Amino acid sequence: MLLGVNIDHIATLRNARGEYNPSPIEGAKICMNAGANGITAHLREDRRHIKDDDIRELKKLGFRLNMEMAATDEMQKIALSLIPDACCIVPEKRQEITTEGGLDVASQQERMNKFVKPLVDKGILVSMFIDPDENQILASFKTGAQYIELHTGSYSRAFNTDKEEAEFQKLKSAAEFAQKLGLKVNAGHGLDYENVHRMHEIKGLEELNIGHSIISRSIFKGLENAVTEMINLIK
Ligand code: PXP
Repeated sequence: MLLGVNIDHIATLRNARGEYNPSPIEGAKICMNAGANGITAHLREDRRHIKDDDIRELKKLGFRLNMEMAATDEMQKIALSLIPDACCIVPEKRQEITTEGGLDVASQQERMNKFVKPLVDKGILVSMFIDPDENQILASFKTGAQYIELHTGSYSRAFNTDKEEAEFQKLKSAAEFAQKLGLKVNAGHGLDYENVHRMHEIKGLEELNIGHSIISRSIFKGLENAVTEMINLIK
């Protein structure tokens, strides 16, 4: 399993001062030196953490870049000019603290098909960030996206409770269903140093995108150590 480190919260901390430190670009270099397989960054409509310059600088570094973005014309235009290695299409609400649920692809099939096609045509790997739900998986498949990323938020919140098994089984069967269609499957959201180990039970998961727990741990242990510890858990 590969690790994509989501570096948004390095930018959150930087923006708290409105100046230059800590630099998400330096952070990305440390993550990659520590053995991460790629960098994930979410350019939100409100630019609350990652800014346009960050995403451009990240692209220049030449690391495998996964740009998370909402399905808006503005983001499609940016992605088509930047050509990141991958785009993960996520839902976005202005008031939310973080991405709260999966994207509803099924109820906007036509719009999503039109949104995804130009990205795929440019050679970008497109991933739909969805809940573990067969309708959403089928709808994602129909867009032409090559990947889905399963939203692991419900599993993460249920971890160590009596709901854990049910939430975990939803992820497991969703991954199997998607793989039978020929989709590649990533996962992310809320994964941490305790709950991540069950991802090994899901066969064929390609990549985990993990941000908050790694950046949080880096405050006490250093970013390189935080990334290395996570790699040791998922490899
Ligand atoms: N994957 C996607 C699509 C996300 O939107 C996020 C959060 O930005 C993550 C992974 C990482 O989630 P977390 O920060 O909880 O690890």
